[in-house]
Amino acid sequence: MNRIGAMIYDRFLMGASQQAGLADKRREALAAASGEVLEIGAGTGLNLAAYPREGITRLVCTEPNAAMSRQLEARSSEAPVEVEVVAASAERLPFADASFDCVTGTLVLCEASSPPAALAEIARVLRPGGHYLFLEHVRSVDHDHARKQDRWAPIWRSVSGGCNCNRDTLATIKASPLTVEKAELGRFPKAPQIVKPLLIGSAVLAAV
Ligand SMILES: C[S@@+](CC[C@H](N)C(=O)[O-])C[C@H]1O[C@@H](n2cnc3c(N)ncnc32)[C@H](O)[C@@H]1O
Repeated sequence: MNRIGAMIYDRFLMGASQQAGLADKRREALAAASGEVLEIGAGTGLNLAAYPREGITRLVCTEPNAAMSRQLEARSSEAPVEVEVVAASAERLPFADASFDCVTGTLVLCEASSPPAALAEIARVLRPGGHYLFLEHVRSVDHDHARKQDRWAPIWRSVSGGCNCNRDTLATIKASPLTVEKAELGRFPKAPQIVKPLLIGSAVLAAV
């Protein structure tokens, strides 16, 4: 996400989708967040108002882009608890092993430079039995649609500032140290066709 993308993110890039149901899907994805929670790639903080009002004891939001995190800090009062904002990428989380009960991420693995490395980090910072809650736009399960995503991917990546529309994120999560518990495919409201397939789910780090 470049600086202009960060400036227009809430109103022009996400506004219509948020109003058409994405805000509800965020609440659905984050409903099970509790205890000490880490959000990766928190962006401008659109999830803060979507967290459950009870049960979260600590909320740390990481975001590598300063233009995004300035907006996140400005809306921190929407969160159910005080927010700690940390500049970090998901592939290198500056936290000790097993330090969170829950990790969340929405619309992040499409941009992460290495989703497998990000997932390894998520697993490392989760406590055994802890959950990763995700909402990601993903590669279509329809072969023709997926081929269209592949064709458009380079153009989409350059106009969107780094978003990959054709990643098979569910397969990447399944290949990580986490175990998928829930994975539901839906549609990204008011989004271009190539980013329509939307995955909402959760994965757990096996208890030892
Ligand atoms: C499409 S925005 C989503 C923002 C927010 N999570 C949301 O749901 O609105 C993608 C976000 O991922 C962040 N990002 C990009 N690469 C990242 C990485 N390697 N690790 C963590 N976050 C990253 C971007 O800075 C941006 O804030």
